[in-house]
Amino acid sequence: MVSSFFFAAFGLSLVAATSASSIPDILARASDPCAVIGGQKWVAPKDVRACYQSIKVDQKIKSNIIDVINKTLAFHTSVNYQIRAPEPFTADVHEDLLADLARISRQQYASEYDLHIDLSRTLKRLNDGHCVWINDCYVPLFVNYLPIPLTLLTESDGSQNVHIAPEAFTVASAEFPDQIDFWQNSLPGALKGKLETLSGAKVLLINGLSPFVSVDANSLITGSFQGFGTRQTAFFSSYQRATSSWNYILGNFAQQSLPLNDSVLLTVQRVNHTIPDTFVIPYRSRFGSASVAFTDTASYRANNCVAVDGTNGVDLAESSSAQVVPSSNPLAKFQQQAPVPVQVQRKEPINVMLDTSPLSDVTLPPGLQPSLTPANGSRNAAQFYLLKDGKTGVLALGSFSDSSLDDFQNSLLQGLLSLKSAGAAQLIVDVSNNGGGFICAAHWLHRIIAGPKDTTVPQAGLDTAARDGPLAQLIVKQIVNADVDPENQLLYNPLQWRNASNIPFGEHDDWLQPPVKSTINGRSDAFSQRLGQECQPEGFSSTPPDEALFDPKKVVIVSNGRCASSCSLFSITMAKEEGSKTVVIGGKKDVQQEYCGTVGGQSTDFSTIDTEIKTAQLKNNTLAPPDLLVNGVQGIAWRLAFGVDDPAHPEEWQDHPADLNLPITAKLVNNPVAIWEDVTARLLA
Ligand SMILES: *[C@@H]1O[C@H](CO)[C@@H](O)[C@H](O)[C@H]1NC(C)=O
Ligand SMILES: *[C@@H]1O[C@H](CO)[C@@H](O)[C@H](O)[C@H]1NC(C)=O
Ligand SMILES: *[C@@H]1O[C@H](CO)[C@@H](O)[C@H](O)[C@H]1NC(C)=O
Ligand SMILES: *[C@@H]1O[C@H](CO)[C@@H](O)[C@H](O)[C@H]1NC(C)=O
Ligand SMILES: *[C@@H]1O[C@H](CO)[C@@H](O)[C@H](O)[C@H]1NC(C)=O
Ligand SMILES: *[C@@H]1O[C@H](CO)[C@@H](O)[C@H](O)[C@H]1NC(C)=O
Repeated sequence: MVSSFFFAAFGLSLVAATSASSIPDILARASDPCAVIGGQKWVAPKDVRACYQSIKVDQKIKSNIIDVINKTLAFHTSVNYQIRAPEPFTADVHEDLLADLARISRQQYASEYDLHIDLSRTLKRLNDGHCVWINDCYVPLFVNYLPIPLTLLTESDGSQNVHIAPEAFTVASAEFPDQIDFWQNSLPGALKGKLETLSGAKVLLINGLSPFVSVDANSLITGSFQGFGTRQTAFFSSYQRATSSWNYILGNFAQQSLPLNDSVLLTVQRVNHTIPDTFVIPYRSRFGSASVAFTDTASYRANNCVAVDGTNGVDLAESSSAQVVPSSNPLAKFQQQAPVPVQVQRKEPINVMLDTSPLSDVTLPPGLQPSLTPANGSRNAAQFYLLKDGKTGVLALGSFSDSSLDDFQNSLLQGLLSLKSAGAAQLIVDVSNNGGGFICAAHWLHRIIAGPKDTTVPQAGLDTAARDGPLAQLIVKQIVNADVDPENQLLYNPLQWRNASNIPFGEHDDWLQPPVKSTINGRSDAFSQRLGQECQPEGFSSTPPDEALFDPKKVVIVSNGRCASSCSLFSITMAKEEGSKTVVIGGKKDVQQEYCGTVGGQSTDFSTIDTEIKTAQLKNNTLAPPDLLVNGVQGIAWRLAFGVDDPAHPEEWQDHPADLNLPITAKLVNNPVAIWEDVTARLLA
């Protein structure tokens, strides 16, 4: 306060007197905590926090955010289920969002950052990667890193221990060449300059406690997946097939989207050492690759914190749609999928998870990348390989999205056909960290692998329902009675959907009437009638083959459990309907591992719902969320899929236990080909 008063009182004359000299700069930096980090690439996390915490809560912005979230949640299918989830997720999901939003409304916060953390964690407690609040002002302006990603290894005697990943130094020195010396020099005593010798070390204690205390604490704030085991896994490193490379995901210990920790105290036993080492290693914050540069508080706020093109929806009728539709999509940064062009995203139904960590661009070290030659059909996040046994094909599928739905589906077909013609008689589908994507690509892959049968034609996915709230009902009435959507662009247009007999609705069918009333956790709720599939034939790129490409019982779906949305739709239908086997890589052996989670049915977000509302001329309705003032996104599950084993209730709340919880050894860790060979020996030999 003193320094900012000083600057306010005397700064002007100094600026005038010493134009472009460094004195005003120094004074500005001393008085403005955001100027300290402005323009810097690497900073201390405490300096990022000092900037964030210097911003006081503006009551108008606070109530705007809460109002937008609250009213958008009326379109999210799972609000009432999430108050107390059915078994087996009762212990994992018990968040009364509306009650918590009311609490947050009343509560005072020392800074907008504290408010942000409360809002973000409240939504993350749903453990539903579709329904998250992300504010670009904080996430991830700077990303907080350690150069020592962790992994959970199974030792030769079957015991399990947390280790610094064997590849840690290789990954960190390639990704952080301009910061690795800082960490080298930060190590104490004999460890100084010897960061490399920590690779592979057994982690005995984190902050003086058993490592699983930290793992489990992180599982309470990481969100995204209902399954406890899947959220434990978030702490550790993993791999993913990305659009143009094999990527490395550092995990929540070594990468944080907020500056939560300044340093960590570790006790480790290095490889070939008997005496443990105890040391403190600092986190460092790197300016986010998608953050907009700034120099001080004013430019930080203006460049990163206010609503941008695409934050809010548009009235599609206002002028020609090509002009009003935003050219960028702020949501895209957080969608856990291969990039989808805005125009494709508007046309194709998508089911995808959001995450506060944008997609990783850290590469998997060359020694761990598959060295097999990709087979024909390989494209972007879909790569095909034939293992050395000559009979096991692999589809490494890091996303159900692509720049083109048709080209993607054609490549999936071509890739499977080329594996078959090369001699593959069995198939591994590796969907590690596949956060979903095109719904019809999930249906297509199930249909072409399993062939035509009652589980694939006409419905190769799962039937769904949307929430049937009062404002949604008014949107449909405007579409069917007032013709507000002549070009059939809105989600609520009946022409987009079919009833449970897979018969298309007519343009005047009010598909939300009558609402299907239900009581969930003691609250009355209402859903649409059951919807059938929307992918066949128009969502398929070509006529699928008449025969199964592989015997589904000789198909194994492998992942680290972090397979969501459209990836869940595919995996669940393959496992529960076709008898394919499922494998989760790693995980604590006394914790049940789910092979997928965050099923949903179709995901969307506030800006899309806002377009529906504006185009339906309902923005002035009291139930309509206002325009969002900040640079934020609120995701939702718009449709919820019905279950396979219990078709009357959502698949979201049904169990997905993996057939095999694959023990990860130092030889297998983050090595896709070694994992595929091990899975083949165990399940396909
Ligand atoms: C959320 O909206 C409902 C009505 O839709 C309202 O009753 C409630 O007060 C709102 N909650 C908050 C925290 O604004
Ligand atoms: C980070 O800080 C939080 C809150 O102080 C603490 O609970 C957690 O254990 C810390 N994590 C690490 C890795 O030090
Ligand atoms: C540990 O010792 C074994 C056996 O002597 C040796 O092969 C290995 O290279 C050593 N590893 C490290 C990291 O020093
Ligand atoms: C892969 O495609 C190329 C060009 O389309 C073709 O020449 C080649 O024979 C194909 N290879 C296999 C194994 O199908
Ligand atoms: C679907 O619509 C058709 C045509 O209107 C109707 O005959 C059929 O009963 C409907 N199916 C369901 C489940 O409502
Ligand atoms: C809302 O706006 C529409 C036109 O956009 C107008 O006809 C209607 O009267 C307005 N309703 C209210 C409640 O203001």
